Amino acid sequence: MTAHPWPLLDGIAYGGDYNPEQWSRDVWDEDVALMRKAGVNLVSVGIFSWAMLEPREGEFDFSWLDELLDLLHANGVAVDLGTPTAAPPAWFYATYPDARVVTADGTVLGFGSRGMVSHSAPEYRTAIARVAGELARRYAEHPAVVLWHVHNEYGAPVSDDFSPRAVAAWREWLRERYGSLDALNAAWGTAFWGQVVREWDHVVAPAATASIANPSTKLDWARFTDEQLRACFRIERDAIRAHATQPVTTNFMAHQNYNTDLWRWAQEVDVVSDDHYLWSPDPDAHVGLALSADLTRSVAGGRPWMLMEHSTSAVNWQGRNIAKRPGEMHRNAFTHLGRGADAIMFFQWRASRSGAEKFHSAMLPHAGASSRVFREVVDLGARLAAVEELRGTQVRADVAVLYDWESLWAQDLEWRPSDALGFRERVRAYYERLWRDGVTVDLAHPEHDLSRYRLVVAPASYLLTQAAAANLTAYVEAGGTLLVSCFSGVVDEHDAVHVGGFGAPLRTALGVAVEEFLPMREGETCAVDLDGTEVTADVWTEDVVLHGAEVRGTYRGGPADGMPAVTRHRHGQGTGWYVSTALGVDALAPVLRGVYADAGVVPPGHPEGLEVVTRQGGTADFHVVVNHRAEPAELAASGTELLSGAPVDGTFRVGPGDVAVIRTPRAQGGGR
Ligand code: GAL
Repeated sequence: MTAHPWPLLDGIAYGGDYNPEQWSRDVWDEDVALMRKAGVNLVSVGIFSWAMLEPREGEFDFSWLDELLDLLHANGVAVDLGTPTAAPPAWFYATYPDARVVTADGTVLGFGSRGMVSHSAPEYRTAIARVAGELARRYAEHPAVVLWHVHNEYGAPVSDDFSPRAVAAWREWLRERYGSLDALNAAWGTAFWGQVVREWDHVVAPAATASIANPSTKLDWARFTDEQLRACFRIERDAIRAHATQPVTTNFMAHQNYNTDLWRWAQEVDVVSDDHYLWSPDPDAHVGLALSADLTRSVAGGRPWMLMEHSTSAVNWQGRNIAKRPGEMHRNAFTHLGRGADAIMFFQWRASRSGAEKFHSAMLPHAGASSRVFREVVDLGARLAAVEELRGTQVRADVAVLYDWESLWAQDLEWRPSDALGFRERVRAYYERLWRDGVTVDLAHPEHDLSRYRLVVAPASYLLTQAAAANLTAYVEAGGTLLVSCFSGVVDEHDAVHVGGFGAPLRTALGVAVEEFLPMREGETCAVDLDGTEVTADVWTEDVVLHGAEVRGTYRGGPADGMPAVTRHRHGQGTGWYVSTALGVDALAPVLRGVYADAGVVPPGHPEGLEVVTRQGGTADFHVVVNHRAEPAELAASGTELLSGAPVDGTFRVGPGDVAVIRTPRAQGGGR
């Protein structure tokens, strides 16, 4: 087994963002006493403290942080030390007004909230290198510091920046990427609408335009923006590494983020960490949580990762902020844990009295330590201590769902066949089907080595390079089962339609061609006849032409009446399935039954709503069980339930809404 990504802390990390600069010194003593009570062993400090650390440019005041780190260390609480660069101080904005972000409509964003200034501005880059470097120099040897936390959630709250500084950097970036204007004009297809550029100075950023901007330009702009953010991360990371040896992380927002290509970001960090918040309008938000956790584990290459932030109860930034009910925080935490997290952290330790987040829940709420939330926080700390053996164990999946930020960026642009069909919605539908069937999945990039998976699902993989399509085709040839959804393999890396038509690069693997997209009106539905089982489809249908595939589902009604809706194609040693419409989670069930049979995937047959994910250790399997149901549930298992210490002999019963971790020694087998 390779070394753990954060070796300086034992057990499962437990704690949250800690912002004591908002409180008087006496409160700090109460904080550490209550942290000990809750079993907190790690806090993230200093994330928004630039104004306190560098009160005037180049003048540093570390006195309060010295005292704080010593206090935490004396109380057995380790520190994930933040660099404060997501909230530049007032002096920065006043001294460098040209470094401010400009939005697409020309609004200049100033001081008074948070969010960094222009990530392309040399003044900002100099300032972040200085503050990160000074922090690292001072605290490299501090025994409390086990991890560095660079910045906060790159890409939020702003990522697009149309300031003059950014536009200059954009032109440089394009020169490097394309070498010549001829190459750029070809890649962007600028012959359309006469957008040919003949001088580098005439290249514009895709800010506000009269009609829609060139989509190829916008796709490159998304890549550029992501790379500018990453360049800022690297500057800070390297400034830290010049002095310190502790691992470096920055908190991602996996499935909730839009602007950062986490396959690339994960290559830059020592530790992958993620923030996740339930999306209140979604009654099944715990499924989205599981997806986010699986995505985070996948970008981490299967290695242990940190849940850097979630909430003990309600957030404050959604329209209706729904409080978590008793037990829900535990279920959320154990889902992350089951899906590979070795750290369960929150925003934040103590609720803030002032400022934008005073209505956000915390580990220690405004109601204080005699509250339901704090009691659950103490209980969770004890439970995590009881399952510390999980640390370093890994989740293995037989199924992969493809996930590609570049495809997401391209697909979400304007003027597509139907704005009711989206990448994330399709990913969620397929993921949720697999979740309900109890099948654990990884997320994967279409150009990854997929050979270890029995089944690969490609939901709306709109942008697919020739290399990715060749990879998928080779996967099928070698015996894999591939399930592709509608609106896949449509464009190349420049957002140009593939030569040969929609889906052309996948024709060999799937045995079909898509002649025309046939989206439906709002509210319109049609049926799909799957060998006698009728399911309902909406939003999207296609005119699919067979090139060797067999028909497994036929449209009844709608614009594609009588045409193939679901097809199956034997190619080489494997099978390629195609679903040309946007089936919902229930309608996907009969389709997936056939697909599982081809792939040799056997769903465990747990009652729906009982989530069981296995982490494999050297000598034992750990089944992390989360019961989302209002009734008790049973599963076949044997070994020891770690939270209670009770033996499990054949059948385990988990109470309504409860969680459990069952250790099954490898020699005994069973459990799934
Ligand atoms: C996160 C952010 C935290 C806090 C939290 C509230 O996105 O990193 O600083 O604002 O949201 O939910």
